[in-house]
Amino acid sequence: MKKLTIGFDVYGTLVDPLEVSSYLHKLIGDKNKLFAEIWRQKQLEYTFRRGLMNQYKNFDICVQQAMQYAMDCLTVSFPNNEKDNLLNLYSNLKVFPDVMPALKLLKQNNHTLVAFSNGVESTLKTLLSNASIINYLTDIISVDKVQTFKPSPKVYEYLASKTGADPAKCWVVSSNPFDVIGSKSAGLNAAWIQRDPGNIFDPWEYTPDITAKDLIEFAAYLK
Ligand code: LAC
Repeated sequence: MKKLTIGFDVYGTLVDPLEVSSYLHKLIGDKNKLFAEIWRQKQLEYTFRRGLMNQYKNFDICVQQAMQYAMDCLTVSFPNNEKDNLLNLYSNLKVFPDVMPALKLLKQNNHTLVAFSNGVESTLKTLLSNASIINYLTDIISVDKVQTFKPSPKVYEYLASKTGADPAKCWVVSSNPFDVIGSKSAGLNAAWIQRDPGNIFDPWEYTPDITAKDLIEFAAYLK
């Protein structure tokens, strides 16, 4: 197998943004899970809308505005220090247990591994350092440099050009179906990480090249 360039989506693929629900439980009891889900859905919606409108504001701002939306939606409010704590949690999410062994194996097999995310580079650097996986990654490729978001074709073209990869040998690995479809539409290869068997892939004209339950299974496909 030829050596590949593999871009890993971050939120949902390497780390779980819904992990914030345990901290939220202390603040709002059993509204925590709903809050975490609204927060995540809304931050993605904001990226899609800002992309379409050509009104880019970085992902940190989308996350912050989506948090305010979730508070308004559930009629709860947090003091400023708790808002800061919640936003800081986004830089301290733990990696899924399969991530470290899979990155290790892929690295041993000499593939080029990079983070590829909507996130802001400095925030991603803190997150990936805190999660102790930064050393497996050759680069952190943020859409911030292109000033738009996934799934704009511009960001996938940027991934290939920044890594110097031939798109035919460039992979995106993501648990987010919109990211997989965006990659395929832009001519890259894509693996869908179906972390929960209940997760559904959009019934569009694009399908993943590989569907795996986690990164270890993905790494095994490439062996
Ligand atoms: C990312 C979002 C889409 O990390 O999860 O790019």
